[in-house]
Amino acid sequence: MRASGRTAVSAALLWLVAAVAVRATMRAGIPSTVFVHDPAHGNVRMGVKSEFCDNGETHLELDWDGSDDSNFTCTPSRRQAFEAESEARAAAAKPEFHLSEPAKPLHHRCTSQAISYDKRLPTSGPHRPLWPVWGRYIYVPAQRWLHSLEHGGIVGLYHPCAPAEQVEAFADAIAGCLRRHVIAADGVRLRPDRPFALLAYRNKVLMANYDRGTVESFILSHALRGPERTPRQGQYSLGLVTRPAMSQTTKTASCVPDG
Ligand SMILES: *[C@@H]1O[C@H](CO)[C@@H](O)[C@H](O)[C@H]1NC(C)=O
Repeated sequence: MRASGRTAVSAALLWLVAAVAVRATMRAGIPSTVFVHDPAHGNVRMGVKSEFCDNGETHLELDWDGSDDSNFTCTPSRRQAFEAESEARAAAAKPEFHLSEPAKPLHHRCTSQAISYDKRLPTSGPHRPLWPVWGRYIYVPAQRWLHSLEHGGIVGLYHPCAPAEQVEAFADAIAGCLRRHVIAADGVRLRPDRPFALLAYRNKVLMANYDRGTVESFILSHALRGPERTPRQGQYSLGLVTRPAMSQTTKTASCVPDG
């Protein structure tokens, strides 16, 4: 009886080892090619670093390769345009909401292919296969942060000439509310009369002045509603300054439990 029991245990163990080995072999044998059957994304695999398509580090010059700060610094001409709108900002009583914008196809495009948008601040559309690590950046091209929106993240953009104390309050409000955020300056996509923007998939709000209530209620209503929820961290980090302070499991500091 004991002997046959031992044999059964050995057989079960042997079977388990064999099953694990077969699985590992199968995994290793699956080629992690760039192109997969995934029509929703133009058949380009997401989140896999590829030398042929997007490695997140080189051949980035069609969007931004890190060598040029002209799109996110407060240049004298941008400063002038910003100052010229100060009365308009003071007079703007209400934030400007753009809700339920039409859904554009979410195709993935390799970095050799230019992607342009028909809006300054698109909330859906084609993008790069690799998405940004959550956090605060000096700059992130729309071709990257659109992927963050698809995953239910919130993107906070500010004009580089906006007052520093408002910028810090804006960034703190977002980061203190939701871990899944991308925060960056953008002097091209933001209008000087609305220097703060919060974006979610198919929704955005533009603000003349930072307003905490607007930021928190927008995040509560629109975060984590992207069409593709994935717990996976991003692979792109060019220009990253700080990662979210709250960890994936700490939910106490956030106004949205975002796992
Ligand atoms: C600046 O932004 C424009 C518009 O998004 C883009 O076409 C251009 O490549 C960007 N230039 C740099 C150097 O980032």
